[in-house]
Amino acid sequence: MTCFEDSENKSVIDLFENKKLTTFCAPMVRYSKLPFRMLVRKYGCDVAFTPMIVSHSFIESEKARNCDFTTTIGDRPLIVQFAARHGTELADAAEIVYRYSDGVDLNCGCPQRWAISEGYGACLLKKPDLVHDMIKQVRNRIADTKYTVSLKIRLHDDIRESVQFCRQAEQAGVSWISIHGRTKSQRTEAVNQDAIKIIKENLNIPVVGNGDIFHLKDAISFQEFTGVDGVMSARGLLQNPSLFSGTEITSSSCIKDWINLSISFGTTFTNIHHHLMYMLGKVMPKSERKLFNSYTSLASVLDHLNEYTL
Ligand SMILES: Cc1cc2nc3c(=O)[nH]c(=O)nc-3n(C[C@H](O)[C@H](O)[C@H](O)COP(=O)(O)O)c2cc1C
Repeated sequence: MTCFEDSENKSVIDLFENKKLTTFCAPMVRYSKLPFRMLVRKYGCDVAFTPMIVSHSFIESEKARNCDFTTTIGDRPLIVQFAARHGTELADAAEIVYRYSDGVDLNCGCPQRWAISEGYGACLLKKPDLVHDMIKQVRNRIADTKYTVSLKIRLHDDIRESVQFCRQAEQAGVSWISIHGRTKSQRTEAVNQDAIKIIKENLNIPVVGNGDIFHLKDAISFQEFTGVDGVMSARGLLQNPSLFSGTEITSSSCIKDWINLSISFGTTFTNIHHHLMYMLGKVMPKSERKLFNSYTSLASVLDHLNEYTL
């Protein structure tokens, strides 16, 4: 766990209060790591999430902590997302990251079979009392109300259940909620912005909308339609980390920044290459992409970029 305290940071609550639209980089396993967070921050993203971290191993193992959580000065506001299934587990994990982050988030949306079978992720949508208890336990342990406790959820099949679930979380003291506008079984169906609008209208806490935001104009229309306080993007930012600054495709300066940031933070070649494949997906001709994706060394990647793209 490599960490630095940063006293200059703004809290997420301040952003909700002072900005018309707060922008978020979604939690993404393997992708929303430190160098990528620093990149999207440079291009107008207000708040970034870590990838989902399994709280149980994080508490138990120093090796897991070193591998899962790295931050630095300037990596704020930062929300650390946990997969947890007990209040004490989530509160213990929150205590560890409290000084280096601005909030903890409970994953209530992961639809993967391994997560559901172990009691994590989207199965919590059916356990509102447990989620209520988990929020309370973190709130009791960390009294600082600028430090947020949030949930990231998917929709229930019945929107009334989603509203009830969120209201119960609000009563428990949750600070804000982000909503991926699909149910646990939906994959490519259109995002249900009507449902997000209804949830927003029924809550007093800030709501963040998520799903299919690939351009700045998508973020603006999402907010205009639903009334949400913030918008969150995952695949859109992978494809274009500068999307919140209004560029339509990844700029060459953004690609250069990615290479510099990833090298300076010691990222693996695989991670650098995967991100570049996403970023260049819409920029590179298909024939060139096949060759680019086949590279196995940083030198070949850099040579290619110097010759063709940058
Ligand atoms: C590569 C990848 C990894 C993801 N990892 C997580 C995760 O760790 N935690 C989580 O709550 N959601 C995770 N998600 C889901 C996203 O946060 C987001 O809710 C979903 O992709 C919909 O947003 P989008 O349409 O902007 O991609 C992941 C998505 C992708 C594409």
